Amino acid sequence: MTRIAIFDSGVGGLSIYTEIKQKLPESQYIFVSDNEAFPYGTKDENELKHRVLEVVERINAQFAPDLLVIACNTASTVVLPLLRDKFAFHIVGVVPAIKPAARLTKSNIIGLLATPATINREYTDQLINDFATECDVIKVGSSRLVQIAEDKLHGRNIDEQQIKTEIQPLIDTENIDIIVLACTHFPLLNNEINKIINVESDVCLLDSGKGIANRVVHLMTEIETKNNSPEPSVAVFTELTSLSSEFKAQLHDFSFAKTILLN
Ligand code: DGL
Repeated sequence: MTRIAIFDSGVGGLSIYTEIKQKLPESQYIFVSDNEAFPYGTKDENELKHRVLEVVERINAQFAPDLLVIACNTASTVVLPLLRDKFAFHIVGVVPAIKPAARLTKSNIIGLLATPATINREYTDQLINDFATECDVIKVGSSRLVQIAEDKLHGRNIDEQQIKTEIQPLIDTENIDIIVLACTHFPLLNNEINKIINVESDVCLLDSGKGIANRVVHLMTEIETKNNSPEPSVAVFTELTSLSSEFKAQLHDFSFAKTILLN
C-alpha cells in the first residue's frame, strides 16, 4: 500500500489531498500541517528552508513515506532542490500554474494570486520568463486571503468584502481571462472568489491540484513500496491545541492525529 505524505503550513494541503485521493483512493495518506510555523508566506527564505527540512526529517523518521508532496507554493519555490538532495523518496512540488495559464489564455492577460513570498520569488519570475513572455502577468500577493481560508476551514465567519478588497487589483484589470491560484489555500475559497469576480466577467480560476494528482499517479508506476500491510491514514500537526472541532471534522478520512514534536 503506497504511503503518500502531503505537507503544507496549514489547511492548504487539503485542496491537494482531495485531488490526489480522488485518483488514488487506496493509498495511505499522511496529512502534515506545520501549523506551529504558519504562515509560511511572510517568512524569510533561509528560515523557511530550515524549518521545512526539519519537519520533513521528522516525517521521514516517523513514517518513511514512498512519496512526499510539498503542497505549498511558498515552500516549493525554494526548498525542492534541498529536499531532493537529502531524501531518496519521490518529492513532488506545487508551483504556480503559469505554464498552463499561458497556454489557455486568449487575452494574454493573466492574474497571479499567491502569498507575498511566492510573488517575490526568483523561481516565479523564471516561470514567467520561460512560459509566459507573451503575457502580461498581474501579480497580487495576499497573506490575508491565506488567513481567510484558514478561518473558513476552522468554521469561523469569513467576510466576502475582505476577499473582494484583496483581489480588487485583479478585478480592476481589464481583459484578465485567467487567474492562477498559486497558493494551495486559495482553491478552498474558489466559490467565494468565483462569486465575486464572475458577477461582471467570465474569468477562469486555475490551480495546480489536478496536474499534481496526475503527476503523483504517474510516479506510482515507479514506486515499489515496502509498506505491505494496510494502515490507517494519519493527520499530523506540529501544534495541536489550536485545532477547531470543525477542522477536525474535515479530516474524517484520517483515523487519528498525533504531533511531530519539534525542539
Ligand atoms: N499554502 C501555502 C502556499 O501554497 C502558503 C500558506 C502560508 O502562507 O503559510 O503557498
